[in-house]
Amino acid sequence: MNTTFNNKVALVIGASRNMGRAFAEMLAQEGARVAVHYHSAGSRTGAEEAVATIGAAGGQALALQADIRRVADIQRLFDAVEEHFGGIDIVINTAGQMLKKPVIEVGEDEFDDIFALNCKAAFFIMQEAGKRLRDNGRILNIGTSLLAATVAGYAAYAAYAGSKAPLEDFSRALAKEVGARGITVNTLCPGPMDTEFFHAAETPEAVAYLKRASINGQLGQVGDLLPVVKMLVSPENNWITAQAIFANGGFVAR
Ligand SMILES: NC(=O)c1ccc[n+]([C@@H]2O[C@H](COP(=O)([O-])OP(=O)(O)OC[C@H]3O[C@@H](n4cnc5c(N)ncnc54)[C@H](OP(=O)(O)O)[C@@H]3O)[C@@H](O)[C@H]2O)c1
Repeated sequence: MNTTFNNKVALVIGASRNMGRAFAEMLAQEGARVAVHYHSAGSRTGAEEAVATIGAAGGQALALQADIRRVADIQRLFDAVEEHFGGIDIVINTAGQMLKKPVIEVGEDEFDDIFALNCKAAFFIMQEAGKRLRDNGRILNIGTSLLAATVAGYAAYAAYAGSKAPLEDFSRALAKEVGARGITVNTLCPGPMDTEFFHAAETPEAVAYLKRASINGQLGQVGDLLPVVKMLVSPENNWITAQAIFANGGFVAR
């Protein structure tokens, strides 16, 4: 039995499937008690399956719904985790949405919509985590490697990449504000990943192009991210903070 996260409570936002679910199950396997957040009604089953999987392996988990575009929902989510588990040590926010359109075609509502989730919600989750995490807590955002890619303009990712870009600045700022309490704040920036999130937005030609950009001609798998997520939120990591960390099979670097 791995014990890296024994006595830790983790809140994983967007944990019904793909990255968030893998992060939640990894943390639970290594001893954390985990709040498995989901948003849409269709994701409830996935969240409950994650809770059941964790429970069957002897862990403790709880599924919680929230629309994090509303600050009141974020506060309610944190309240529920604290009430159930007695405190929070780790927050990982994987929530995100994609819009693939050239700048000249993005409508006002589309802009507001994507910034409400990718940017505003992320900010207020970090704010709540900064207020509530116990000493030596860990905050991890999921950004995007498009932050360093000139492909962003070519492939119409401006609203998506632009709405994720502030996470880097938010992390730098909050890391300094809470660092004296031993809390680290980072943003993990994956490259193209083999999940529905990616495939729903891409043409076969774009998939082929993005595969060629990695060192092995493949998209990233969720499992490729687990070692770096584990390292960033582990109690042993007290020195990597305020960073945007790229994990992308060599897709881009800076
Ligand atoms: N896949 C890629 O190629 C890639 C690459 C780089 C970065 N990323 C980022 O990685 C993260 C996870 O992506 P993924 O591939 O694992 O896709 P995913 O499973 O579709 O993750 C997106 C998550 O966002 C949640 N969400 C959407 N609207 C929400 C709302 N209003 N309130 C709360 N949660 C909401 C979804 O929850 P519900 O299903 O419950 O609505 C879902 O769990 C995203 O932030 C994405 O931007 C992805």
